[in-house]
Amino acid sequence: MEQNAYLNSVFGLKGKTALVTGAGGGIGLAISEGLANAGAEVALCNRTVSKCQPLADRINAAGGRATVHHLDITRLDSIHACVDEVVKTYGKIDVLFNVAGINKREGLLDVEESTYDRIMDTNLKGLFFMSQAVAREMYKRKRGSIVNIGSHNDEGMLGGCSVYGAAKSGVVALTRAMAVEFAQYGIRANAISPGHILTELTQVTWDHPTRAPWLRERIAMKRPGMPEELVGMAILLASDASSYMTGQAYHIDGGCLCGGAPWEYDTNY
Ligand SMILES: NC(=O)c1ccc[n+]([C@@H]2O[C@H](COP(=O)([O-])OP(=O)(O)OC[C@H]3O[C@@H](n4cnc5c(N)ncnc54)[C@H](O)[C@@H]3O)[C@@H](O)[C@H]2O)c1
Repeated sequence: MEQNAYLNSVFGLKGKTALVTGAGGGIGLAISEGLANAGAEVALCNRTVSKCQPLADRINAAGGRATVHHLDITRLDSIHACVDEVVKTYGKIDVLFNVAGINKREGLLDVEESTYDRIMDTNLKGLFFMSQAVAREMYKRKRGSIVNIGSHNDEGMLGGCSVYGAAKSGVVALTRAMAVEFAQYGIRANAISPGHILTELTQVTWDHPTRAPWLRERIAMKRPGMPEELVGMAILLASDASSYMTGQAYHIDGGCLCGGAPWEYDTNY
């Protein structure tokens, strides 16, 4: 078989419809574009739809198919309206990427109830009910792949990230729960846990005089990841190449959880 045809048969997403939440953010845009380039039709769902429109226009102009849908993942009525709209547009959903997420960095002693609720409602409760709504659709066709975005903080933990880390650990627990319950319906669930990725949101950290060098020392590759560096795993988990993969969280972190940059040691090299 010719090389491109072979790669397409293993990783290609032609004929698959993907719904991406948080599609207007740094990571959501990169993943959505990657899925479209691999052949998927992409429903770009976000609270601020204007953030997704330029990408949808680009995908459609290049001969692909993408649509933009309003979603406030903190509201069940919005989740159900969004899923209904996407199913009406494409007739099905094969792949769900739960990317929408927020954070506010502050000490555990400082967190107020409203902040706690906002982070949990978006990162954990919203993801739960979005997955439930989409899985009810996937159940009808007995196939699907759900990919949740975790974080370094679902296993490691940075200061000032207590609520966020708890929510992301919950996301990994939910990923396992979905894998266990949904396998019988032909639905797989996995998580991608990004390490420190350079996006608009994190640019301020990478420009910070003390936090940036602190972070570099904790990453073996001594640099932030780019959103595009998550795309390979996103395509793998969306495609049939991962047909026996379910219930796992894959950390893409440039060597952060493994130990970071080494201390001084003797070497002839
Ligand atoms: N950037 C990183 O270093 C990093 C690291 C680990 C995990 N993550 C996770 O990756 C995901 C994307 O992060 P990002 O860096 O692209 O952030 P981002 O802020 O650029 O993107 C988040 C997107 O979610 C959308 N969103 C927020 N609240 C929403 C709501 N209630 N309903 C619908 N959409 C909503 C925002 O409009 C935005 O488009 C998040 O879950 C984040 O926790 C990011």
